[in-house]
Amino acid sequence: MRLILLGAPGVGKGTQGMKLAEFYSIPKLSTGEILRNEVNSKTELGLHIAEILKKGMLVSDGIVEKIVAEKLSNSYGNGFILDGFPRTLHQAVYLSEILQELPVDGTFVINIEMNFEKLIPRLSNRVTCADCVYTFNGDITDVKLMTCPKCGSKNCYQRDDDKKESIIKRLAVYDELTKPMIDYYRNQRCWIEVDGDNTIDFVFNSIIASIKQKIVV
Ligand code: AP5
Ligand code: MG
Repeated sequence: MRLILLGAPGVGKGTQGMKLAEFYSIPKLSTGEILRNEVNSKTELGLHIAEILKKGMLVSDGIVEKIVAEKLSNSYGNGFILDGFPRTLHQAVYLSEILQELPVDGTFVINIEMNFEKLIPRLSNRVTCADCVYTFNGDITDVKLMTCPKCGSKNCYQRDDDKKESIIKRLAVYDELTKPMIDYYRNQRCWIEVDGDNTIDFVFNSIIASIKQKIVV
């Protein structure tokens, strides 16, 4: 099974992706996480990416497409979840080309919809675990004292792009560059849309139910 998670920053792609990966026992590939790892490795490429991420802009199609193609060809032959890719029409077309070459059936594109105004507080108060990448909401002023509810790590932080200025820019970039890509998928059979303004479990159950329904039909 191949699941492609779409949606604006903060709708819950990472949260749902983690649950879906456990449920279907398939790996999740998050381009945002891969890019942040590159930043942490302090390579020349990492320093270049750090500036883009902090500004809330998109990394170039060429860099991201290369990363995804390499990952998919190496270890994702039995299925995967894509979180944060594609994000432009160019990336969507590129993905369709690679998917035709991969030997797995069943692709579902899941778009999580939500009002932008509700996303700002979610992202401003998001805490990320450096050890297991779980995200949760909390009082960000106490981030150094926090314990990850998933793995118990004390190594929690606020992402550089979760400052208000970057959040607003990321939402604007989503509107300008990613939203137009939605039409590429909307009328295809694989399309699933869920309302992200519900509890985490409700959103998860809606996704599972929609996938089951599509498989039966
Ligand atoms: P990326 O890391 O993908 O960031 P994003 O798209 O901005 O999305 P987020 O990770 O911020 O949000 P999310 O939807 O995963 O929400 P989450 O589950 O954490 O990308 C970062 C950057 O990398 C981009 O800005 C870009 O520069 C670059 N990049 C990445 N991919 C790229 C690409 N393909 N092309 C070019 N550049 C690329 O949830 C958010 C918070 O809400 C959490 O605290 C969570 O606990 C909480 N929450 C989640 N669901 C619920 C719920 N139902 N109810 C209440 N709270 C909830
Ligand atoms: Mg995420």
